[in-house]
Amino acid sequence: KRLLPVTVFCGFLLAGCGREDLSVLRPQGPAAESSFGLMKLSISIMIVVLLIVFSIAAYVIIRFRRKAGQNEIPEQIEGSFKLEVLWTVIPLILVIVLAIPTVKAVFAAGDDHANDKDAIKVKVTGHQYWWEFEYTDYGITTAQDLIIPAGKDIAFELTTTDVLHSFWVPSLSGKMDTNPDGTTNRFSFSAPNEGVYRGKCAELCGPSHGFMEFKVKSVSEEAFQEWLGKMKAPVAVLPEDPALAEKFRAQCLSCHAVGDQNDIGRGPNLTGIGSRESVAGILLNDETGVEGASVEENLKTWLRDPESVKPGNRMPNPKDLGLSDTEIDGIAEYLANYKLD
Ligand code: CUA
Repeated sequence: KRLLPVTVFCGFLLAGCGREDLSVLRPQGPAAESSFGLMKLSISIMIVVLLIVFSIAAYVIIRFRRKAGQNEIPEQIEGSFKLEVLWTVIPLILVIVLAIPTVKAVFAAGDDHANDKDAIKVKVTGHQYWWEFEYTDYGITTAQDLIIPAGKDIAFELTTTDVLHSFWVPSLSGKMDTNPDGTTNRFSFSAPNEGVYRGKCAELCGPSHGFMEFKVKSVSEEAFQEWLGKMKAPVAVLPEDPALAEKFRAQCLSCHAVGDQNDIGRGPNLTGIGSRESVAGILLNDETGVEGASVEENLKTWLRDPESVKPGNRMPNPKDLGLSDTEIDGIAEYLANYKLD
């Protein structure tokens, strides 16, 4: 009876894992499908073993139980060559059955497509607490939303500017660490279907580790090319009000980049931020208000007090930089309208 609440609680916990775009149980690409296949295989084997062992145990307990009036100790048997061979050979076969597809999958997952001309190369940099994506072949840098063409292999190169993070899109692939010791990790995945997949940092990296989210947006080849074009266009978009534009340039652009204005990569690149799925990775943009708030509202929430949204992040509070509430709201409005579509 004491186990019941624990079971129910675990059930609720697992129910939370049901989000389609954040579940290893709903694989959306070859890498995730291969892991899921291994999972299904090992669980099936475990279930069969469990059923056989428990059935034998139940049979033995009932069949050889102490009967009424039975007082003498039954016949004692020691060792059985046949049985020992049987329970050595069966597990051995099971291990081989598991090992073959596992080794195959590990080697397949090890193909990082680094020298594949058709693969899209993306350099991923982990920062406390956001993700930077650099499309090295196109000279484009963005943050938080990784836009990829559906079906193409994406060749990742992963590093970090501070501590250990781990890049993970559960429905597309396994995890890959970003190492602070200067080594570069490589791996690859593809998303055959168009859609938005949620990603998370999977390595404890500080107080806002749990908020270090990002999105992978798999789009058609045409949409991807269109996006690249818009990202490359050298548009000097700044707030209309000259005084606000000056503040924006002096304060925000000392860390962030917009379009061709500055490319210091200390903070996330803001080009087209109004088109992103979320603000700061966790405030979901949803004009309908069902799952989140509008981009503008989210930007205001973030800019008015970044620390309360993501504790420990490196963004200074705009108020401490001398921006008034009206100016902060003005910048939020400008950024919300800075869209790529
Ligand atoms: Cu970055 Cu956890």
